[in-house]
Amino acid sequence: MPELFEPARIGAMTLKNRIVKSATIENMATMNGLPTDNTKRFYERLARGGAGLIMTGYAYVDKTGQSYPLQNGAHTDAMIERWRPIVERVHESGAAIALQIVHGGRQAKPTILGRRAQLAPSAIPNLVYFTLPRAMTHQQILQAIDDFAQAARRAREAGFDAVQLHAAHGYLISGFLSPLTNRRRDEWGGDSTRRFRFLAEVYSAVRAQVGPDFPVLAKLNLRDFVPFGLSPRNSFPVARRLADLGLNALEISGGILEIPLGMSRGDAPAEVFTRGRTALGKMYLRASLAGMRKVFRFRENYFLDYAKRLKPTLDIPLILVGGIRNPASAREIIRSGWADFISLARPLIREPGLPNAWRDGGTQPAQCTSCNRCLGEVEQGNILKCYLKATR
Ligand SMILES: Cc1cc2nc3c(=O)[nH]c(=O)nc-3n(C[C@H](O)[C@H](O)[C@H](O)COP(=O)(O)O)c2cc1C
Repeated sequence: MPELFEPARIGAMTLKNRIVKSATIENMATMNGLPTDNTKRFYERLARGGAGLIMTGYAYVDKTGQSYPLQNGAHTDAMIERWRPIVERVHESGAAIALQIVHGGRQAKPTILGRRAQLAPSAIPNLVYFTLPRAMTHQQILQAIDDFAQAARRAREAGFDAVQLHAAHGYLISGFLSPLTNRRRDEWGGDSTRRFRFLAEVYSAVRAQVGPDFPVLAKLNLRDFVPFGLSPRNSFPVARRLADLGLNALEISGGILEIPLGMSRGDAPAEVFTRGRTALGKMYLRASLAGMRKVFRFRENYFLDYAKRLKPTLDIPLILVGGIRNPASAREIIRSGWADFISLARPLIREPGLPNAWRDGGTQPAQCTSCNRCLGEVEQGNILKCYLKATR
């Protein structure tokens, strides 16, 4: 029976345990996307705290896909030398680290893009920013594919142990997979095979750059939680196709920018989420948050049912994220083979040392209350930390 604190492999990479730190935007980089000493300290604390694998907060592969002013970058070769000492520090502190790479697509921040429209598969309005993204040309699609490939090459050159393609949460790859936001009728859309093509081409271009042995992972929405969005009927086949292509591990998730609580279930303090929005944006958010709080009420292990259904049909490691708070159920998930790894985001922002505490026999659940203040504050451009702790 597999155990939570036994070493396990993802492709050629051996991890000391089966606990992953799920990616969280840190807002600790410079305006040019360069990681800073704050970034280094943040990952070092996580590594010392015992997680086997740390996913970085998502790093944009091109400026047209940037979502936050202080987001990590992976878009120029200048990043390589700045990431290298951070990766080394994480290794010295006992963990492996993967760079999560993303293009924001229809969810890139309009204030960063200036006069340029957000790039997306199709021109479907964005209800949070009240923008109309532009449908990408064939040339722009090919450029974005190459941007992912170059970002992955940089990750490898900087010493990262792996890359994770961000194919969840409504960003560009996820936007191509979704029948709601991909209305194209050319080779990039129209049916599920053609909606998958962008991700398939990204994967192949990345693989060609990093070689056969470098672990390539992905985070995928199993459900977008919007009408006409991705649902298991379409997403499970996507997962299996990725495995057939050679993906090394899959983390499963859900939700898009308009439905953030689909991704991170719990509360949503309206005063944080609506700060700085236009009057219309405030109105939309207040109404939608009220509804979302009811539909996406927190419960532990909230994507576990999906994992139980997907795992028996998938022959690559499955990483389960979403509301994992309790060491007993984390152990059960691994022992039962419902997932190969568990992944924690909000709990490790508050308590980076939680994996070591659980390893040493601690039976206390995570202190995180899933209040989502961290999410609201990073959405506002503020630094990632536990804001509940700060107010206590
Ligand atoms: C503040 C914050 C930032 C996040 N940033 C990212 C990100 O950069 N990339 C990503 O894939 N998911 C991101 N997520 C989602 C988490 O990785 C995770 O999937 C989700 O919070 C559920 O896990 P949890 O219940 O352990 O927090 C973020 C979540 C939060 C709360």
